Amino acid sequence: MTSIQNAEQLPDVHATLADARILPVVVLDQARDAAPLAAALVEGGLRSVEVTFRTDAAADAIRIMAERPDVVVGAGTVLTTEQVDRAVEAGARFVVSPGFGPRVVTHCRALGIPVFPGVATATEIQMALDAGLDTVKFFPAEQLGGLAMIKALSAPYRGVRFVPTGGINAGNLADYLAHPAVLAVGGTWMVAPPLIAAGRWSEVTRLTAAAVAAAGTPAA
Ligand code: 3PG
Repeated sequence: MTSIQNAEQLPDVHATLADARILPVVVLDQARDAAPLAAALVEGGLRSVEVTFRTDAAADAIRIMAERPDVVVGAGTVLTTEQVDRAVEAGARFVVSPGFGPRVVTHCRALGIPVFPGVATATEIQMALDAGLDTVKFFPAEQLGGLAMIKALSAPYRGVRFVPTGGINAGNLADYLAHPAVLAVGGTWMVAPPLIAAGRWSEVTRLTAAAVAAAGTPAA
């Protein structure tokens, strides 16, 4: 079984996300774009990134980004335990799924890698709680009712933190982040596939910096 090497030396992923407040969700068709993309994100002020297993380049892209000590790279759109293993082997520090997959969650827990399954309902939040988790992705956020839905769900589940993703952008992220149940927001807007395909790294940096500015400083 794949294992996490030197786990005690790894950064606390929850603390990293809480500090960053924004998690870029990346779809990379070519692993060779991983290095300039990571550099563009760091230059814009973000050092956390989720690389999705929607393309064959995902594991190699994670491996390339994981070589940077200043970047915390996770794997997204993880749907199978095999993908968990490939992600961990490549150096992913956390795992994200669009929904709650019991096998993926159990496997991540066994490996000791932080996992953020997606939830859309109260029932799925309770599945996460039963699995020993207190932080979940909320997906697709805007389509599910956005902040109003998070407010409603966080009333009974007081300890749960959400990472809303789906329809988030520089215009609405501050509203989400102002709610104490929101750990961070995720999204693709600063790493949109056309920007990556065209190698517009300075535009990625500009959009990233604008997002960081819009997020402001987290409350002490
Ligand atoms: C995801 O992969 O989590 C979502 O597709 C991101 O949604 P967005 O493209 O609206 O940011």
